[in-house]
Amino acid sequence: MAKFLVQKSGPLSGEVQISGAKNAVLPLMAASLLAEEPCEIKDVPDLRDVKVMKEILESVGSEVKDIDDGHLNIYTKEITKAEGCFELVNKMRASFLIMGPLLARTGRGKVYLPGGCTIGARPIDLHLKGFEALGAKVINEDSYVECIAPEGGLVGNSIYLDFPSVGATENIMTAAVLASGTTSIFNAAEEPEIVDLANFLNKMGARIKGAGTDHIKIEGVEHLKSARHTVIPDRIETGTFMLAAAITRGNILIKNVVPDHVMPIAAKLRESGVDVFLEEEGMRVRADDKNRKFVATDIKTLPYPGFPTDIQSPFMSYLTTVDGGSTVIETVFENRFMHVAELNRMGANIKTDGNRAFIPGSKVLEGAQVIATDLRAGAALVLAGLVAEGTTEISEIYHIERGYEKFVEKFRRLGANIFKMEE
Ligand code: UD1
Repeated sequence: MAKFLVQKSGPLSGEVQISGAKNAVLPLMAASLLAEEPCEIKDVPDLRDVKVMKEILESVGSEVKDIDDGHLNIYTKEITKAEGCFELVNKMRASFLIMGPLLARTGRGKVYLPGGCTIGARPIDLHLKGFEALGAKVINEDSYVECIAPEGGLVGNSIYLDFPSVGATENIMTAAVLASGTTSIFNAAEEPEIVDLANFLNKMGARIKGAGTDHIKIEGVEHLKSARHTVIPDRIETGTFMLAAAITRGNILIKNVVPDHVMPIAAKLRESGVDVFLEEEGMRVRADDKNRKFVATDIKTLPYPGFPTDIQSPFMSYLTTVDGGSTVIETVFENRFMHVAELNRMGANIKTDGNRAFIPGSKVLEGAQVIATDLRAGAALVLAGLVAEGTTEISEIYHIERGYEKFVEKFRRLGANIFKMEE
């Protein structure tokens, strides 16, 4: 199994170009199943999860072509098998996003239950509640879920989500675009990836209003047509490089950023003493003022526009290095502190109590052998390794490669001592 070796690197500096967002492109690719005509998606990041989604689309009947670097053409003239097989679906939780489009286009879908990061139980009850509200019969077995639309197709309805789940909002939107009548999703997720999906679907001929608010309204249409779309920049990758500048007391210009999408991260970094400001070419993050004190700040993760759960672990690595103690409260996933044990191996001395973590701060971390327990935890450990004394050896890095494009290359260009070791 490959590993990353990370050594203390000094302040990172230079420029980094942010890739298209993993969490936006996966639902966009799934949504392309809704049209009988080809769709083009640009700024598609070269990631393991994107490869898995390509294979899933091909397995249901799509032709997926790479026109150019990061430019995909997906043509699904016919769905030949409305089924997500276990081997593919088990590699990635977001595979379940094909259910909405399969159900809308063919009247049925069968998807084996998803894998992905092991952060909490990650149920799909809200997705299924939405499909049922649209009239589908849901057969929920241990290993798979099958949904069958009523005779005449899905019918629009009002759906209230108990929690603004990103995946459930996306799956219900893609199921409802071809339903007859109007669907309202109340307490919908407001993430930028939802807006990107709605924009793509509207280009395909859907009638969706209110994406980006907690009430999304969808007027069903009969057909969707071909569309071209460019994926939004990855706000979590952006946040990771913002924290790379902060933790190494560096100075990085981050290009291809939507500043509003990273507003909570910028706000918390500023509170702790880091300069975050816009320049003509992008967003600059500076923590290289030698006279500046970087201080503790508390974080509470929330659905968008609150502080993103995906940046909780990278931010925690940074908080180990600032003056004073900080508290981090995780409210989105129930098991998202697996990185704490790994950071503690490096001397962070973090204590947890349920969904709260107390980070004493002011630590000089020590390199250690650690495990990337999930995608963002892996990024957090790389950040910690950049400032730790000695060498940090990170295993199970396939998690990191699922979600970050050219990870090592981008970090090395900024001056990071990070190497991939194939075993
Ligand atoms: C997406 C992102 C992930 C991010 C998360 C929250 C993708 C591919 N992944 O994941 O990176 O961390 O949003 O911003 O876009 N829940 C239920 N029932 C459901 C669905 C979800 O109880 O049917 C719960 C989950 O267990 C979790 C919370 O809702 O505690 C949030 O999950 P959700 O917003 O659905 O996250 P994902 O779409 O899986």
